[in-house]
Amino acid sequence: MNKKNLGNKLYLKAKKIIPGGVQLLSKKPELFLPGHWPSYYIKAKGSVIIGLDKKKYYDFTNCSVGMCPLGYSNDFVNKQIIKTIKLGNISTLNSVKEYDCAKKMIKLHPWFDMARFTKSGGEAMSVAVRIARSYTKKEKILFCGYHGWHDWYISANIGDKKNLNSHLLPGTSTLGVPSFLKNTSIPFEFNNTKDFIKKFNKDKKKLAAVILEPTRANLPKNDFLKTITSFCKKNDVPLIYDEITSSLDKETEQSIIKTLVALTKKLTVIFITHRPDIVKGKNVKKFFLSKNGSSTRLIKLKK
Ligand SMILES: Cc1ncc(COP(=O)(O)O)c(C=O)c1O
Repeated sequence: MNKKNLGNKLYLKAKKIIPGGVQLLSKKPELFLPGHWPSYYIKAKGSVIIGLDKKKYYDFTNCSVGMCPLGYSNDFVNKQIIKTIKLGNISTLNSVKEYDCAKKMIKLHPWFDMARFTKSGGEAMSVAVRIARSYTKKEKILFCGYHGWHDWYISANIGDKKNLNSHLLPGTSTLGVPSFLKNTSIPFEFNNTKDFIKKFNKDKKKLAAVILEPTRANLPKNDFLKTITSFCKKNDVPLIYDEITSSLDKETEQSIIKTLVALTKKLTVIFITHRPDIVKGKNVKKFFLSKNGSSTRLIKLKK
């Protein structure tokens, strides 16, 4: 632990009064650079963040877990929000914006009939599961990827704490999740078509939905999505794509990497990545392996 790091100091204090230290798991310093992460900001504008220590950082992640694709404190967005606040952003009556926004969503996604808003991604996924179960009158969910913290999802770990390990949440505890949910949500492996077919065939008469993140850190390979779609269509099982945290498209990713690599010529740059191959051979001097956010060690990448 770096005791001089102001962000780290505050985080250690926060852990005493906030369960888990932060309000969002994805912002836990342990997931990035344990003991050395700036952790807190005092100002954020565009892609620049000023940390508690007044140091300037460039944010090349997905800007607050994908929340700010236009960059932080965007002038246009700020103006609209301030205007809305001045008009009173809440009242006993409904906001006209609710209707306007639903209409825009339907226009943007012509395959939508209706739109309903939720306050978080996990809540949206719980709504999707509820709708699928009520439509099919069945209960089992076959899923792949991360879909939030609600009982239907975490119950996958009842009986085997390792079930969610390859779905972004290693070692997740099921304390407080009703034991009768055991075996109602079954995980399958990303890009493993065989695993999907085996699990689908075993439970196809009981399935309320198949849910997956069609892409995240890795692109789907070969016939993975095609097979899933055709099995679901053939057996009339609803297929739900969770695109709450979508991957960047290849061109945008390449342009970000190019910018980052150019920065290594004048600044110290730390890449935190699930795919070290993307920066291999690009002026990167040291590689550290981080496992479950707790340990780091120097590794050599094969050429
Ligand atoms: C694919 C996916 N689904 C669901 C969620 C849950 O969203 P929230 O944290 O807003 O509940 C996340 C959050 O990162 C996500 O990445």
